[in-house]
Amino acid sequence: MEDLPGTKISRRDLLIAGALSATAAAMPPVALAQAHAQDGAPSPGLPPVRCAFTVNGVRQELSLDARTSLLDALREHLRLTGTKKGCDHGQCGACTVLLDGRRINSCLTLAVMHEGAQITTIEGLGTPDKLHPMQAAFIKHDGYQCGYCTPGQICSAVAVLDEIRQGKPSHVTQDLAARPLLSVEEIRERMSGNICRCGAYSNIVDAITEVGGAAGRAA
Ligand code: FES
Ligand code: FES
Repeated sequence: MEDLPGTKISRRDLLIAGALSATAAAMPPVALAQAHAQDGAPSPGLPPVRCAFTVNGVRQELSLDARTSLLDALREHLRLTGTKKGCDHGQCGACTVLLDGRRINSCLTLAVMHEGAQITTIEGLGTPDKLHPMQAAFIKHDGYQCGYCTPGQICSAVAVLDEIRQGKPSHVTQDLAARPLLSVEEIRERMSGNICRCGAYSNIVDAITEVGGAAGRAA
């Protein structure tokens, strides 16, 4: 495409730049601020906040816009993209990670709230050569189709077995004084915050049942 007279800018470059600035001008200030927070870079005029935590055994020190979610810090800043963003509103569970051993929706919490925390993402549970038993069981039982929800499902499933082991009751536990059972009903209830659009639920339950049963026999 020809350059504009007296410049090195083509008409196409000019049209693209115009479209981008029109889009930015049309964005409300809140949306612009959210866009900055999402990429982890401080917004103009806002001082960055330093925070440090350990992710998958590695200490990380970040300088972030204070409004950056833990999910965006992991994905956009640390490039740990195994943790997925589905709804960004706490409704799908795709962003589940383990924080100090407990599961959490990383889209619903700010990174700067977790100074000194120990965080485990799907990348830290196992490796391709040495899978975590839950990862291996998901493969064995076909506990996924597209795989988008799978990192969150697996992190959640690992935490579910810990919760049952620790005797924490769920909404469907009948006897609050007894140790919760590793039943299909318990697993379905405890995993109900992890949505699978592909509907791999029954195979996911099979995978968790197998790992939970093996852990129970080993205990
Ligand atoms: S992305 Fe966090 S719950 Fe959906
Ligand atoms: S495997 Fe596709 S959304 Fe769960």
